Amino acid sequence: MEVTRLSDALGAKISGVDLSNVDAGTAEEIKESFHKHQVLLFRNQDISMEQHISFSKNFGPLEVHISKDSLHEDHEEILLVSNMKKDGEYVGVENAGDAWHSDLSYMPKPSLGSLLYALEVSEIGGDTEWLNMYDAYDTLSTNTKKRIDGLKARHSFNRFKNKRIGVPKQRQNGGKERYEKLSPPDVFHPVARTHPETGRKALYISPRFTLGILDGSEDEAQDLLDELIEHATQRKFVYRHVWEVGDLIMWDNRCTLHLACRGIPEDQIRHMHRTTISGDVPF
Ligand code: OGA
Ligand code: MN
Repeated sequence: MEVTRLSDALGAKISGVDLSNVDAGTAEEIKESFHKHQVLLFRNQDISMEQHISFSKNFGPLEVHISKDSLHEDHEEILLVSNMKKDGEYVGVENAGDAWHSDLSYMPKPSLGSLLYALEVSEIGGDTEWLNMYDAYDTLSTNTKKRIDGLKARHSFNRFKNKRIGVPKQRQNGGKERYEKLSPPDVFHPVARTHPETGRKALYISPRFTLGILDGSEDEAQDLLDELIEHATQRKFVYRHVWEVGDLIMWDNRCTLHLACRGIPEDQIRHMHRTTISGDVPF
C-alpha cells in the first residue's frame, strides 16, 4: 500500500489496494491513513455493490439515508448520487451536496464518514471539494476559540428553514412539503467538536445544515456563523477532486466539509453510489 498526499490542505491517494478484497490488516492500515489524511482516494476500482458495502463496513455500521426515494432498489445502504433520469424522474439525489456540508450533521448521531464511488462521470463539471476543518479551527483567533468554547449550533435538513442558501429549482415545487416530511427534529451539536480518534478539535458547522446557535441573540448567532463560514471556506483549506470512473473517495465527516461543484451540462451523466458510515454523538 502506497500513500501520496493530494494537496497541502488534506487528502491522500492510496495505491496498491484492491477494494474488492481487503483483509483485516489492510483495513487497519487504511484506517490509520484515514485518521491522518481525512480524505482518501482509491483509483481504478472495479467493485460490486456488495463489495462497496462490505469494504465500508470495516469502519462501522452503515446508515440507510432518509431520502428513501433515492436508495438503490436492491441495496438500501446505497444512496444514488446521480443526475440520471428514469421515466422523467431523477433516480437519485441530483442536488447532493450543492452547499458546503458534513453528511447527516442534522441527525442526533451524524455520520462518521462516507464512501462515494464513481460509476459514470461527466466530461465537463462535477468536481467535488473537501475542506480541512481541523485547520479551520486551529487558525481561528484565540478570542474566537474562547467565544465558541462550549457553544452548540442548531442543525436541520430542512432547506426551507435555511436563509443562507437557496432552494434549487427542481425542489421549489412541492419541495417544502417534502423537506417538512423528511426532516428529523432539529439537533444541537458543538460548534467545535473533538475527533474521537485523533483527539483534535475541528470546526463543526456548515452553511447547508447549520441554522443557528443554541444561546444568545439571533443576530449575534447569524453574525458568528457568517464569520466562521467565511473563515472555514478559505481556498487554502480546500482539495478539489476531478473524478474519473473507478474512483472511490472516502472522507471523514467529523473533520471535513465537502461541496459538489456542479456545472454539469444537461446532456451529460454523472452517476455515483454512496455508502454512509454511522457515527457517534459529537462532543
Ligand atoms: C455526497 C455529496 C457531492 C458530489 O455524496 O454526500 O455531497 O460532488 N456529494 O457528488
Ligand atoms: Mn454529502
